[in-house]
Amino acid sequence: MKRHQFKQLLFSLALVGSFFVNDTGWVSATVLDKDMVERGRYIAKIAGCNDCHTPNYLHSEGNVPIQQWLSGDTFGWRGPWGTTYGSNLRLFVSGMNESEWVRTAKTLKRLPPMPWFNLNAMAEQDLRALYQFMISLGDPGKPAPVYLPPNEDPDTPYALFPSPPE
Ligand code: HEC
Repeated sequence: MKRHQFKQLLFSLALVGSFFVNDTGWVSATVLDKDMVERGRYIAKIAGCNDCHTPNYLHSEGNVPIQQWLSGDTFGWRGPWGTTYGSNLRLFVSGMNESEWVRTAKTLKRLPPMPWFNLNAMAEQDLRALYQFMISLGDPGKPAPVYLPPNEDPDTPYALFPSPPE
């Protein structure tokens, strides 16, 4: 192999984010596009996803290294719905391909304070960029704490929401 061919091979390998077994049983790869990944990073920040899905993001005024972005948070949101935690989004997408993510994001519904209606409304290209960014982050890490029903006290720090007005 010539030197420039070898370089090209290394470059294409670097852009392959992850592998999936698709519907037909073949392994397919997600090929990451640099501009899409960068746009996804911008969206994660500007659309507020980090605020609840990245550890310590709000409290540190956004000073969390990108390596930890969207890896889930142990800060609870307690209200009449129980206690929820900003999920580990890397883990959530790690078993999906890009189209599955787009379909899921356009239809999912979750408990507060997840603004799922905003995610449902996100343009397909933006969802695709966000997916590529999440996959580019690498090791998905551990899940966030599990949801607790209203009568259970969390053993993590949490914010308490009052019941909404009748
Ligand atoms: C105000 C806090 C908040 C913001 C902002 C927020 N989320 Fe969430 N999100 C949550 C919480 C809390 C949950 C868990 C809800 C539950 O347990 O039902 C959640 C759940 C999710 C889930 C479902 C994960 C699963 O494991 O089922 C996805 C996907 C998601 N959020 C994506 C996003 C994206 C993308 C953004 C940015 C556009 C975002 N969220 C912004 C708080 C937030």
